[in-house]
Amino acid sequence: MNNFIFQNDTRVYFGKGCVKEYLACLTKRADTVLMAYGNGAVKANGVYDEIVGILKNAGKSIVEFSGIMSNPTYAKVQEGVRLARENHADMILAVGGGSVMDCCKAVSLAARYKGDAWEDFWAHHGVVDFEPLPLGVVVTTAGTGSECNGGAVITNEEKKTKTGRDYPQLNPDFALMDPTYTYSVPQSQMVSGSFDTLSHIMETYFSKPDEDNVSDDIMEALMKSVIRNLRIAIKKPEDYTARSNLMWDSTMAENRIIKMGKKCDFECHNMEHQLAAYTNCNHGCGLAVLHPVYYRHIYQNGLQKFVRFAERVWDIARDGKTDEELALAGIHALADFIQEIGLPTTLKELGVQKAQLKEMADSCAISQGAYRQMTHKEILEIFQACYE
Ligand code: NZQ
Ligand code: ZN
Repeated sequence: MNNFIFQNDTRVYFGKGCVKEYLACLTKRADTVLMAYGNGAVKANGVYDEIVGILKNAGKSIVEFSGIMSNPTYAKVQEGVRLARENHADMILAVGGGSVMDCCKAVSLAARYKGDAWEDFWAHHGVVDFEPLPLGVVVTTAGTGSECNGGAVITNEEKKTKTGRDYPQLNPDFALMDPTYTYSVPQSQMVSGSFDTLSHIMETYFSKPDEDNVSDDIMEALMKSVIRNLRIAIKKPEDYTARSNLMWDSTMAENRIIKMGKKCDFECHNMEHQLAAYTNCNHGCGLAVLHPVYYRHIYQNGLQKFVRFAERVWDIARDGKTDEELALAGIHALADFIQEIGLPTTLKELGVQKAQLKEMADSCAISQGAYRQMTHKEILEIFQACYE
């Protein structure tokens, strides 16, 4: 196994009723809370009222930072920074999914930084040698795992780029995770979020080294859990066990545990980020279109791992198949699952224009951890292969 250092500074409070039980205590050191949320789902499902009630009872001043969009923009981050500074917020509470959490991580950093946060922390990997504004999160939709890492993916509309950086100092101080909060998530978002979780696991699983590593065993269990529980939650959205598993699978995929000893690929993420920078498409939907095509492109460079994926994740019997046939059967099973759960399968469905493909391909970052390092020409071929 490769050498590693493991640390995760986020304290998780998981389960039904956790917000009611712990939020007041977790915010006790703050006088003014910047309460951030998206476009109103939390008002419709009662989560907003519950949280505001708890904060008001505890005597907090609340400054609202609302309207955080999916694929949060740097302009929105700057709006949050202004609000935090003008109102002297001493804590941010992000209530939402990956977009709200990521935007708030960027606000927590930029609010305490005098320079150009985009240039110094997103355009380039920077050094966080100061304390960001304290941040706590209440997760309302599962998928990104943002609650337990320092990752923040921000779109710069002017520069046509969506960039993710992971700074351990941006790990939230606490994460409140009540699976019942996700009951109201529309099925399309539950499915795309769950596919994002699956993608995080696959992007890590299909990377070197492939010697015996407990991370790979954990990942097989996690992939099976996502597949099984998503099928249950599609049939019965208020199945507490299924929603709990999907929520914790999502955290487990991105809390760094499975990355130990692995190089990690994330080329599909690099490609999806540029699809979204040009089209504002849904993250999980973009990934669903790309994964099978990308894997058919690279499987020969990691053949034994793709065989293992077919046998252990999809339970496909060898039945006289060659390694190559078995590997392809596993990728086929993944593609079938994507269709079964109703995710898109072409870039056209995401609103991509054919004329944009080359510019988008040329702007993708290249992963250093993949079984096979892509060229921009190959990325263009992948985009063309999944266009329609
Ligand atoms: O905006 P509102 O009204 O809140 O509605 C949201 C939004 O429309 C809705 N929603 C959330 N909770 C709900 C709910 N609707 C009903 N009931 C609830 N309880 O769900 C929609 C999507 O929310 P969003 O936060 O955009 O989704 P997701 O969690 O998938 O986040 C996507 C963003 O995270 C980034 C993605 O690139 C994208 O920008 N990622 C962040 C990562 C990280 N920090 O580690 C890793 C990922 O790879 C990913 O890149
Ligand atoms: Zn993702």
